[in-house]
Amino acid sequence: MTKNIDWQNLGFSYIKTDYRFVARWKDGSWNEGELSTDHMITLHEGSTALHYAQQCFEGLKAYRCKDGSVNLFRPDQNAERLQKTCARLLIPAVPVNLFIRACKEVVKANQEWLAPYGTGATLYLRPFIIGVGENIGIRPAPEYIFTVFCCPVGSYFKGGMKPSNFLVSEYDRAAPNGTGGVKVGGNYAASILPHEQAAERNFADAIYLDPKTHTKIEEVGAANFFGITKDNKFITPDSPSILPSITKYSLLYLAKERLGLEAIEGDVYIDQLDQFAEAGACGTAAVISPIGGIQHGDNFHVFYSETEVGPITQRLYQELTGIQFGDIEAPEGWITKVELD
Ligand code: PLP
Ligand code: COI
Repeated sequence: MTKNIDWQNLGFSYIKTDYRFVARWKDGSWNEGELSTDHMITLHEGSTALHYAQQCFEGLKAYRCKDGSVNLFRPDQNAERLQKTCARLLIPAVPVNLFIRACKEVVKANQEWLAPYGTGATLYLRPFIIGVGENIGIRPAPEYIFTVFCCPVGSYFKGGMKPSNFLVSEYDRAAPNGTGGVKVGGNYAASILPHEQAAERNFADAIYLDPKTHTKIEEVGAANFFGITKDNKFITPDSPSILPSITKYSLLYLAKERLGLEAIEGDVYIDQLDQFAEAGACGTAAVISPIGGIQHGDNFHVFYSETEVGPITQRLYQELTGIQFGDIEAPEGWITKVELD
């Protein structure tokens, strides 16, 4: 039985669901893992996750299709990105098949929390790994916990497919050769203050510039940036210190193969926003969120409109979400079905 939730008006908040998957690493290997009903974790006080941020995470969604079946969108890509993140933090990699099995088991066990097709809501999966166990020096943890929990979610940015405004932060979220390109909690710790500063001024989130020259857009706090130029090119920043967004790579492909646009990763100079007819933020949580305007110092630049969504952003949204919800044929390998019984 599907839960009785106001699916249309869900935001992006924690909702406790029934089961999470937990696997443990000790003495050189991951155990099989199992579902648990316990949403609390007890940790050693010296755990590296607590002191030295030896932890990382992922985010992906499960989608209810018209025929009742359930899709995961490119979970192999999340598994591979998690492995790259693990390598950067000397965390033992979670095998791809363990990652995908964990996600499937969590969705199946919590299927009552999956929004009905047509509501726009999804089941957000949050896989994460923490370094745990007795320790005090700066070194890899002796043990690790890999968990996947899930929450039903709606839009990340208020209004979803309505344009939001963003504020260029004076802070950096990541260093030039730091950890910006992997999904570690430390990057997000650095972004909490800039986000609050943006929110206090009624902006949806902060935008970060490149940490070396502060002249180019890097990304939004919780999503990558893209722009559509006035001559119909899809451009998204190319930088080693932004998170390689799976949604961004999917849009690069769809813009080229399905919309016939030139699609490129390149420099997006903050003082050259005039070249863009439309702009947006993209990510698993953000999906595609149109950017109305960007405040940079005293300058407020409006792209397509502060209230209307541009036509190409709209088409990209329809193509992406159509694929995710199973209404439009997906490129090969993009959809993994979850067996529900
Ligand atoms: N950039 C940041 C900082 C993020 O937190 C996310 C979310 O995962 C993204 C970009 C988008 O990445 P993806 O499309 O893989 O969800
Ligand atoms: C995601 O889109 O999955 C994210 O991780 C963004 C944010 C909620 C941290």
